[in-house]
Amino acid sequence: MIDPVFAERRARVLEAMKSGVLVVFSAPQAIRNNDVEHEYRQDSDFHYLAGFDEPESVLVLSRVHEKPFVLFVRPKDPERETWDGPRAGVDGAVAEFGAVEAFPIAELAQRLPDFLENADRLYYRIGRDRAADDRVLSALERTRPRARRGSSYPTEIVDTETVLHELRRKKDAGEVALLQRAIDITAEAHVAAMAAVRPGMHEYEIEALLRGVFRRNGSERPAYAPIVGSGANSTILHYHQNDRKMDAGDLLLVDAGAEYGYYAADVTRTFPVSGEFTPPQRRIYDLVLAAQDASIAATKPGATLDAVHAESVRVITEGLVELGLVQGPVDAAISEERYKRYYMHKTSHYLGMDVHDVGRYFVGGKPRPLEEGVVFTVEPGIYVAAHDDQAPAEYRGIGVRIEDDVLVTADGCRVLSEAIPKRRRDVELACRK
Ligand code: GLY
Ligand code: MN
Ligand code: MN
Repeated sequence: MIDPVFAERRARVLEAMKSGVLVVFSAPQAIRNNDVEHEYRQDSDFHYLAGFDEPESVLVLSRVHEKPFVLFVRPKDPERETWDGPRAGVDGAVAEFGAVEAFPIAELAQRLPDFLENADRLYYRIGRDRAADDRVLSALERTRPRARRGSSYPTEIVDTETVLHELRRKKDAGEVALLQRAIDITAEAHVAAMAAVRPGMHEYEIEALLRGVFRRNGSERPAYAPIVGSGANSTILHYHQNDRKMDAGDLLLVDAGAEYGYYAADVTRTFPVSGEFTPPQRRIYDLVLAAQDASIAATKPGATLDAVHAESVRVITEGLVELGLVQGPVDAAISEERYKRYYMHKTSHYLGMDVHDVGRYFVGGKPRPLEEGVVFTVEPGIYVAAHDDQAPAEYRGIGVRIEDDVLVTADGCRVLSEAIPKRRRDVELACRK
């Protein structure tokens, strides 16, 4: 059965386009070596509009052509399908995915000009995939001479962002349900990691546990490479090696989220390997949690992500001054951005099909007001490098981030990841299980 959600999205995009034609390419396949490919994941825009997840495909939506939705796809090929699995083929693209007509991908060069003809503008994300750009621009070039016969061709190329990513920025109930499922799976994994961690284990054992919980629950893949950083590794923002042996007294920072049905969770918890925070760890932890509480409290329609960030910056800077990590007074430490030595990233990013999801953060140079249905992370942190000789010795090598996923509601927000312990006592209890 054809899922009506994709047809509804296409209708909304066609409406937003007003005129012209929109072209989206499937994600390119990446070769790992020889004839072995990296795992394939469809381009999020493509999936959003068609639910069609095969490579070597092109989607065309048109306001001018008599066929408003066509797909170019890999044709059926029994021999290849023996190796790579079934393909929908041209007939399947129509019957199962609702294309008005479908064509073999090999006919793209010949047929794409028919869809560009008489379209005043071409919605296309130029620059993302140079091989795709080449094919689109060649088709455009071949459309132009047809003007001598009385037709027209696109004279504007418009980024698909303007019509498609604006829709993706606000999530409907079905999307929130998929996000919630990704987050619930992620919650189970984080709680299991807290219960399992012991001194003497390696970070990769926790990574394996997380990946196992994700996959066992039907998550297709992690939404990004899990970060499992213990001790001083907790201060390295994009740490991925996950190969250190953990010691008693270490903190472990786990930033890991499942992907489910093309939607991403993005959650961080930081917890003590031996089940109890040391006093300096406790002070840093409580500060990050207070910052996160303040940012979440500021989340509502009309607020901006800049305002949400400012809350975390204020609480963290006050705390850093009090702990002797940053020179006061607080106002000057904020205006001169002294806090950035220990809090060097932003508090939030949009979350959805992509972990750093699409949608504009600024409009007309101004931070954009939040609206109901927008989902984003709130993830303040403090990271004191092990070699930071300006920091009091007791804080060196401590990294803490607490990251939750938040949905803006009509009158405030809902923390979709609230089931994962984060109050210090709750974390210590979860670690002793
Ligand atoms: N896990 C990526 C991020 O937190 O932005
Ligand atoms: Mn994040
Ligand atoms: Mn994260």
